[in-house]
Amino acid sequence: MNSAREESTIVSRQDVEDRIRALLDGMSLEEKVGQLNLVQCTGPHVVEDLAPDIRAGRIGSILNVEDRDAINALQYIAVNESRHGIPLLIGRDVIHGYHTIAPLPLGQAASFNPAVVRDCARVAAQEASAFGINWTFAPMIDIARDPRWGRIAESFGEDPFLTGQLGTAMIHGFQISEDNGADTLIACAKHFAGYGASEAGRDYNTTNVPLNELRNVYLPPFQAARAAGVGTFMTSFSDIDGIPATASDFLLKTVLREEWGFEGAVVSDWDAIHQLCVHGLCENDVEATHLSADAGVDIDMVSAAYQQHMPELIANGRMSIARLDELAGNVLRTKILGGLMDRDVTSPPDEPPRMAALTKVREAAEQSLVLLRNEQNILPLNAAHIERLAVIGPLADEPVEQLGTWIFDGDAARSVTPLSALKSMLDGDVAVDYVRALETSRSRDRGGFDDALNAAGAADAVVLFLGEESILSGEAHCRADITLPGVQADLVRRLRTTGKPLIGVILAGRPLAMGDIIEHFDALIYAWHPGSMGGPAIADTLFGRCVPSGKLPVSFPTMSGQVPIYYGHKQTGRPATPETVIHIDDIPAGAEQTSLGMTAFHLDAGYQPLFPFGFGLSYTTFHYSDLSINHHDIPMGGSVVVEASVTNSGDRSGTEIVQLYIRDRFGSLTRPVRELKGFKRVHLEPGETRKVSFRLHTDDLAFYGRNGQFAAEPGAFDVWVSASSVGGLHAVFSISG
Ligand code: GLC
Repeated sequence: MNSAREESTIVSRQDVEDRIRALLDGMSLEEKVGQLNLVQCTGPHVVEDLAPDIRAGRIGSILNVEDRDAINALQYIAVNESRHGIPLLIGRDVIHGYHTIAPLPLGQAASFNPAVVRDCARVAAQEASAFGINWTFAPMIDIARDPRWGRIAESFGEDPFLTGQLGTAMIHGFQISEDNGADTLIACAKHFAGYGASEAGRDYNTTNVPLNELRNVYLPPFQAARAAGVGTFMTSFSDIDGIPATASDFLLKTVLREEWGFEGAVVSDWDAIHQLCVHGLCENDVEATHLSADAGVDIDMVSAAYQQHMPELIANGRMSIARLDELAGNVLRTKILGGLMDRDVTSPPDEPPRMAALTKVREAAEQSLVLLRNEQNILPLNAAHIERLAVIGPLADEPVEQLGTWIFDGDAARSVTPLSALKSMLDGDVAVDYVRALETSRSRDRGGFDDALNAAGAADAVVLFLGEESILSGEAHCRADITLPGVQADLVRRLRTTGKPLIGVILAGRPLAMGDIIEHFDALIYAWHPGSMGGPAIADTLFGRCVPSGKLPVSFPTMSGQVPIYYGHKQTGRPATPETVIHIDDIPAGAEQTSLGMTAFHLDAGYQPLFPFGFGLSYTTFHYSDLSINHHDIPMGGSVVVEASVTNSGDRSGTEIVQLYIRDRFGSLTRPVRELKGFKRVHLEPGETRKVSFRLHTDDLAFYGRNGQFAAEPGAFDVWVSASSVGGLHAVFSISG
C-alpha cells in the first residue's frame, strides 16, 4: 500500500502520462513530428516567417530569437492559434549569464563553491526568462583535460567529482525558484558524451574514449545531472570510437534511458543529425533521421531532417507510430514537467533588479580569482605606500573581452573593467598611469613598449593585464600553442628589466603555458574571463579588500607539448619521480642510448604541471594538522570519517578550500593516482583552527571495474586531506573483503 505522498506522486506522475497520451491521441502525424522540430530564425521578420508553421504545429521549439516581443508573439501564436496550444521551448545559450555575465564556468569552478554557481545560474534564469526564454543549453559538463580545446572555457575543468557537484548546482539554479517557476529555465546537460576528449584539442574532432574511461571519467557528471533532475540532454557532435553520439544507442538508450531512467527530451547539437552523413555514418538525411530517431534523439536542432523525412519513414514502415509517440512524448513530458503547460508563458516575469544581479556575479568573480604566485608577499598592495601605479596591457580596459565566450546577450555597458575599478578605488590617493602597449593580445607590434617601460619606470608598482581575448577560446576556437598570444611574453620580459614590482593578471579562457616566463612575475592572479564585475573583483583583490580563495579546476602545463596533463592520471608501470627525471640540458655530449630505468616524463618538461589541480594561494597561510581516521578497516557498505585541523597561521583572515582525495591502490582496473572525493570552504580568522571532517562511504569509492559492474573493491586506499592535488596529510584504510 503506498503512503498518501507516494499516492499523490503516483497520481501526479500518472496524471502527466495521461496528459501526454491524451495530447498524442489528438495530434496528427505532422503535429507529432512538429514537436521534434527545433528551428532557428533571425532577422526582422521572424514572426511572419515562423507564424504559419507554428500555427500548423510544425514547430515545437525555437532558438536564437533575440527580440523579446518576437519571442512572446511566437509563443502567443503557439498557445492561442495552434490546434493544441502546446507552448514552444524557447532555447538560448545562457551559459554563464544573460545580460549580466558571471565568470566563465571554468572560472566559477575555481571557486569550488556550488552556492556561487547556483546563484549565478539563478540570476541568469531570472534575466533570460524575463525575455521569454525557457530553455538553456547549459550546463556544459564535458570533462576537459586538453586546454588546447577552446571549449574548456565553458567547462568546469578536468575533474569528474567537481564537475558533477557544480553541474548539479547550475541545474538547480536554472530550474528551481520560489514562485511558480516562471523565472526558471529548463536546463540541458551537454554534450553527451565524451566531447572533451576531442583529439589534439581540435573541436569536433574524433574521440576515442574506451568504455572504462567513458564510464569512470566522462559519464559521471551526466549521471549527476540526471540525478539533479535536469530537463534535457544534448548529444555531442563527436563520434566515440566510430559512432557519433547522435546515433549512439549505447549512450541514448542503454545508458540514458535504461540505466539512468531519463524521461526528458534529448536534443541533437546544431545540425548534428545531418552531420551523420558528413561523418560518413550514412549517405543521406533519410538514413540520418532513421539512425538518430532509433538511437533516441527526440529534438532535431535545425537540420530539418526529422521534419522532411520522418513522415516518409513512417509511411514505408521503417519507423513506427509508437516510436514517434515516444519521441514526441519525451518532448511533451519536458514541457509539462518544466511547467510550461500550466502557466501563462505568453507574459514573462519582470527583469530582476540589476544591482542584485551584479552583486551576485561580483561575488563569483572574487571567488574565481586564483593567486598563483606572490613572491615576498608583494600582494596585497598598500595604497598608502604607492604614489603611482602603472596599469599596462591590452586587457585592462576591455568591457566585452572580460565577459568571455558565449555572451551573445551580454550587456557590455554593465561591465566594470579593471582599469576603471582601479581608478575609482584609488582616485585621489594613487596616480594611475594606463598604457595599453598592445592593440590586441595577438599584436606583434612592439611600438607601444617604450611607453609601457616609461610608465613602469615612473611607477611604484606595475599591474600587467595580459591573456587572450574572448574570441581565442570557446567553440571552434582551439589553439595548438597555448602560450600567451602575440608578443605579450616579450612585454613581460621587457618590464622585468625595470626592476619594479610586476604583478600579472591573466584574463583567458583556458590555462596558458607560462613556464618560460613565470619567474618574471612577482605575483600572478589568474582571472579567467571574470564577467561583468571582473574589474572590481580584481581591484579589491589587488589591494586586499578581498582575499583570494580560488583553486585551480584544471592543471596548468609548463608548455604546450605537455598536454594533456591532469592530476587524476594513472600510475603506469614506470611512474616518474624527481630522481628518475633527466633534463635535456643535462645530457652530456655523446651520451649513449640507454633504455634502463626510464620512466614517464619529458626530457624538456619533466612530468609535473606548472601548477596542479586544486592549487591556489591566499594572502594568509593555512596549516594542516592532526589527521585522524576513525577506522583503518571498513566492511563493504561501511563508512570512514576523516578529519584534520586547519589553522590560519597567517595575520589576515582568509578562506581555504580543504580538499579530500583518495587513491584506490589496487583494482581490477588500474586506478588514478588521486581522485577528488570532497571539498569544503573554511573561513578562518588569524590564529583560528577548525576541524574539518569528511565522511567516505564505500559507495563513494565505487567504479566500473573489469567486469563492467559499478562497485567498490576490497583493498587498501590512500586518503589525503590537502590544499591541492599534491601533498597533504595522509592516512591509509582498507575495505575488507
Ligand atoms: C553549438 C554548440 C552547443 C550549443 C548549440 C546551440 O554548436 O555546440 O553547445 O548549445 O550549438 O547554440
